[in-house]
Amino acid sequence: MRNNIPPNPSGLSRRFFLSSAAIAPGVLMKAPAVAQSTPPLVPDDEIKMVLDVNGQQNHITADLRSTLLDVLREKIGLTGSKKGCDHGQCGACTVHINGRRVLSCLTLAVVAQGQKITTIEGLAAADGTLHPMQAAFVEHDAFQCGYCTPGQIMSAVALVKEGHADTDDDIREYMSGNLCRCAAYPNIVAAVKQAKTVMKEI
Ligand code: FES
Ligand code: FES
Repeated sequence: MRNNIPPNPSGLSRRFFLSSAAIAPGVLMKAPAVAQSTPPLVPDDEIKMVLDVNGQQNHITADLRSTLLDVLREKIGLTGSKKGCDHGQCGACTVHINGRRVLSCLTLAVVAQGQKITTIEGLAAADGTLHPMQAAFVEHDAFQCGYCTPGQIMSAVALVKEGHADTDDDIREYMSGNLCRCAAYPNIVAAVKQAKTVMKEI
């Protein structure tokens, strides 16, 4: 069929103009200016931190988003705290902050500044004498591979101080955040019971 529409003197047909506008109506609008000064959403700079770990001041530089566990292991060289799941599910990374047990894989290092951090390396006396909980774990053979053991011991020390070690059921309940793939649980309970007695005498 013949097209009766006269040719557009500009060279652009009406059909071309309408189809272009339908497909991309925005092309005819001026794009809003993008602010050049918008700050980046994710800062990638490392920052300086001071962490009090086992009574020592550690001056480090680390990414703002670093976990306390990663900083302890990779910046300070204290590898006693273990990374089991890195998701707050196994308890292998348990440390103390101001005497309270925390999961260091869920704690930002930057917020631990100004607090007293204790790791498994800081539990024994300066002369190397084991903490009663460490000694009890050895005596009761409360581990097999040992991977969960630092976290178990840090949790157990805090549990006794919290007053949650009165019965076997209590010990099992309040230690339930610390998983042991070797299933050393019965011996762990026995060790906690023994250490509780010794800790009360100290
Ligand atoms: Fe922190 Fe498992 S490594 S809870
Ligand atoms: Fe092996 Fe607990 S002793 S995971």
